[in-house]
Amino acid sequence: MNEYEVMVKNTPCNFMIKNSLQKKIFLETYGCQMNEYDTELIQAILAKENFAFVKDELEADIVILNTCAIRENAHRKVYGRIHDIRHNRRNGHSLPAGRQVDKPVMIGILGCMATNLRTDLLENRNLKIDFIAGPDSYKKLPDLIREAAKTGEKTFDLTLSEFETYSDIYPARKDGVNAWIAVMRGCNNFCTFCVVPYTRGRERSRSLDNIVEEVKRLTGDGFKQVTLLGQNVNSYRHDEADFATLIEEVSKVNGLKRIRFTSPHPKDFPRRLLKVIAENPKACKHIHLPLQSGNDRVLDVMNRTYTQKEFLDLVTEIRTLYPTMVLTTDIIVGFPTETDAEFKDTIKVMREVEFDSAFIFKYSERKGTIAEKKFPEDVPEAIKTERIVGLNEIQKAISLKKNRAQIGETHAVLIEEESTERSKTDFQGRTDGNKVVIFPAGNFKKNDFVNVHITDATVNVLKGRVVSS
Ligand code: 5AD
Ligand code: SF4
Repeated sequence: MNEYEVMVKNTPCNFMIKNSLQKKIFLETYGCQMNEYDTELIQAILAKENFAFVKDELEADIVILNTCAIRENAHRKVYGRIHDIRHNRRNGHSLPAGRQVDKPVMIGILGCMATNLRTDLLENRNLKIDFIAGPDSYKKLPDLIREAAKTGEKTFDLTLSEFETYSDIYPARKDGVNAWIAVMRGCNNFCTFCVVPYTRGRERSRSLDNIVEEVKRLTGDGFKQVTLLGQNVNSYRHDEADFATLIEEVSKVNGLKRIRFTSPHPKDFPRRLLKVIAENPKACKHIHLPLQSGNDRVLDVMNRTYTQKEFLDLVTEIRTLYPTMVLTTDIIVGFPTETDAEFKDTIKVMREVEFDSAFIFKYSERKGTIAEKKFPEDVPEAIKTERIVGLNEIQKAISLKKNRAQIGETHAVLIEEESTERSKTDFQGRTDGNKVVIFPAGNFKKNDFVNVHITDATVNVLKGRVVSS
């Protein structure tokens, strides 16, 4: 699972059920890290108000879906889930014994889909949902839920704010290894394919002091790594502070070992930021640099505001400063009007840069975007499939080559969990460059640092053994 793939995650919480009056919530998260982070905010907000979280959907009085709208399959999944949740509460269907209960349930739709599909969610009578809240309305959730329960009417708040950063809320984090922390929200870039500026509103940054305070509290809670999140982190700005200053200040927090961030925009990448990433020992040596397309005309109609040459120059500059910087990217194939020859430019850039990994997506028209209005879909599905399959093959070979090049090296690895790939006797962690490493479990535990000697590699993971801790 890559970081941008639409994922579904049930999010149980540490808050215990305190009394029988507490309403039990089952919360499911779709989409990106910002949504995972928002789920932690939502849990913190609701736990203060006599709500508790359960792991079993059928035990819940309320099911909340924190949704994503970035690509089509995300919202299809959610519509399917709404139907299933209702279905599982009705008697008389032939589901496996015990997997259906005759107990009422309220359903809430949160996140990007809530703002993106607001008309359908509000007006479609076949969609049995009870409350709807957009990404800036989570503080109103307790009231929205209570009001919907009292009146039986759908309640909603989809206002987007120029100010909301949730800086006064300490999220209910459970992971214990990496802490997400949103440093800015929203986006002003309006890439023509992207729904985010409409679903999450305008860019706004949290204050540097407030972020540093939260990181101090996090290290007090045992976290060694933070990931600074924003739709466009290199435009972080608060008073005099820019993103480079933010990394410098966060890095001064005692106990913090690693700072990750995602995602920067390749346009106007501040040179000082590059230097800070390259030189600050706590800044991880991985930059996710979304290319989207390698062709100048396509980049222009996507409104990416850089050219192939500018992108390649930036990569050269990064590698001059730090030759082994891990670079990953996002690509969209089949943007409307993209010709075969133009697509070949994307292949050319992929071969030239040799990203460590790439998340490659078929273009999917999103409601309300500039592309939806200006560029009707004209690349046939079969061509999109051909392009994505071809590009994935090319990337797989590059990823394998890059990963195999690390065989024989020793990397500091922060242990995240028991490996999901092999047996329970393996651990899994990440290198500074964000590569997943699997190694036999020893006398270590989650959140420990170990030095792992790399002995093998596949397209997706490195394998090795611990040489010291
Ligand atoms: N269609 C396909 N991919 C998209 N992305 C964003 N919007 C779309 C869309 N409409 C991809 C971009 C972005 C990543 C988060 O998702 O590559 O960088
Ligand atoms: Fe979307 Fe572009 Fe903003 Fe990223 S930078 S969130 S792709 S509009």
